[in-house]
Amino acid sequence: MDKKAKKRVLQMIPYGAYVVGTKTNEGAEHLMFGTWLMQTSFKPPLVAFALSEDSRTLANVRESKSFAVSVLADGMEGVAESLVDGSFKKVKTERTPSGLPVLVGAAGWIDCHVLEISEKGDHRIALAEVVDVASGPGKLMPLDALKWHYGG
Ligand SMILES: Cc1cc2nc3c(=O)[nH]c(=O)nc-3n(C[C@H](O)[C@H](O)[C@H](O)COP(=O)(O)O)c2cc1C
Repeated sequence: MDKKAKKRVLQMIPYGAYVVGTKTNEGAEHLMFGTWLMQTSFKPPLVAFALSEDSRTLANVRESKSFAVSVLADGMEGVAESLVDGSFKKVKTERTPSGLPVLVGAAGWIDCHVLEISEKGDHRIALAEVVDVASGPGKLMPLDALKWHYGG
């Protein structure tokens, strides 16, 4: 396979900017910037998120069988940068009714109950049922707006 073409073509897949919120066994909040999200079923509503095999997020998801996706809104570039830098304290959160951390000011959030985890590849796919949602102000910030790539 042509490596340059692989990178170029796979980077054409459009993504949005999201934050995956989880809780540790001790109840501490954890937030991760991520982008590999898709819906996989209408009935029941299912989504899949690909989580890095060595991420704390995946470890939390394995334990709690849950995560919440905050949809970053246009204009939340600073929040994305803080999360990627690890400056979590700069980011304001609130909790879903189920107790998962989500971003204040997000365009929306999705509360997810994990049904299974595919163990293939360096990212593991968490397949999850959508158990609750909230819609906020603004529209999804596409990953392109940040001029970042994840994929290739
Ligand atoms: C543009 C961009 C997109 C990312 N997308 C994902 C993703 O979809 N899934 C993922 O596991 N990590 C993704 N990451 C990496 C995570 O933000 C994070 O650094 C890493 O997975 C560790 O997460 P942790 O705090 O849960 O250990 C992305 C990073 C960047 C900069």
